[in-house]
Amino acid sequence: MVGLKLDLENSKIGNRDILRYAKRVEEIHNSFYEKKDDDEQFLGWLELPTKYDKKEFEKIKKCAKKIQKDSNVLVVIGIGGSYLGARAVTEALTNQFSNKQTEIVYAGNNLSPNYIHDLIEYIEDKDFSINVISKSGTTTEPAIAFRMLRKLIEEKYGLAEARKRIFVTTDKEKGALKKLAKREKYETFVIPNSVGGRYSVLTAVGLLPIAVAGINIDKLMEGAKIAQEKYNDPALKYNECYQYAVARNILYKKGNNIEILANYEPRMHYITEWWKQLFGESEGKDGEGIYPSGVDFTTDLHSMGQYIQEGRRNLFETVIKIEKADNNVIIEADEDNLDGLNYLANKTLDYVNKKAMEGTIEAHVNGDVPNILISMEKLDAKNLGELIYFFELACAMSGTILGVNPFNQPGVEAYKKNMFRLLEKPGY
Ligand code: PA5
Repeated sequence: MVGLKLDLENSKIGNRDILRYAKRVEEIHNSFYEKKDDDEQFLGWLELPTKYDKKEFEKIKKCAKKIQKDSNVLVVIGIGGSYLGARAVTEALTNQFSNKQTEIVYAGNNLSPNYIHDLIEYIEDKDFSINVISKSGTTTEPAIAFRMLRKLIEEKYGLAEARKRIFVTTDKEKGALKKLAKREKYETFVIPNSVGGRYSVLTAVGLLPIAVAGINIDKLMEGAKIAQEKYNDPALKYNECYQYAVARNILYKKGNNIEILANYEPRMHYITEWWKQLFGESEGKDGEGIYPSGVDFTTDLHSMGQYIQEGRRNLFETVIKIEKADNNVIIEADEDNLDGLNYLANKTLDYVNKKAMEGTIEAHVNGDVPNILISMEKLDAKNLGELIYFFELACAMSGTILGVNPFNQPGVEAYKKNMFRLLEKPGY
């Protein structure tokens, strides 16, 4: 198997039903490519894997090396699309327990005093750098965290050295963060105008922290490029990315308005979080949208499994299957066999995990939860690059079929307005 593969066999959708959308899909695909150079359309991610800024890419690698050399910790400050992609890729491809040579920790994604207190306690005696990421440059959560952590880094290293340890990723011209970066002469990376936050993981937003974590960003881009070329096909019949988008819409129309993204690999947890934001913020508007949720199996079979099997029948499940496991852990025979597990002797843990997956899919499908299966060859940078692009394109197509604008997020402003009024911010 090469790269990604979509399987709709258990989706309870016929091929003919999918192909009814062929013309609409072709029109939308063509309109994406017609509008791709207009910044206002936020389609800059569409050709990013082949048209990214090569100079900026080299600068990312150079800065990543510097950070790896002089820091045990990189604090990534950002929220929503300005941190989830980096966290998703980093956690999917690094050891879940050991602190890496340069560990990535996150800040500015909540307003909890405990969180910032604990973080400061954890990093203050370590060598650290900061990458503050905000496209608007004005988002409250990261701005507050940056104010606090900037003070910490300046007190620890002095102004001149602190300046060399702060990396800013923001808009080319606008925003408070850009102004500050200019004044302090921080190293700055640009988020292209035409790429919205949740579609920005393959820009400096995701790439700098991912490179600092020691992940090969060339391979990540290579995978995304493969996907860009593979899914640049308006013919629904041959385009599995668009088939996924259409299948979701058909299920939604049948009343399956909750999609559960399931993985059998805990390292994928933040890929699910990233996916939830991508689809939730892109589609949930105008009273429409599939509610994206996620589970880590088999863990959550012992918490959410009951609901999925027998609760309200408005769900469908999309499973990400990783074909080849990285680590072949074998269950050994035991002379006493008191735990009764010798029937698994000499089997790999991955084999057991896969059987759990097959059994669960069968049970859920029989329990009237339609299933979509996305198979991934292997959990590595190249395959993740392909998966990221697959979901971004599918999301844009799915939202457009649904009739919403998948590139805005007007609803996010409502809580901010109330919060600012309650905080008595001038002008609110
Ligand atoms: O996808 C989006 O646009 C949002 O989730 C943003 O990424 C998030 O609100 C953070 O915004 P900013 O990068 O401007 O701080």
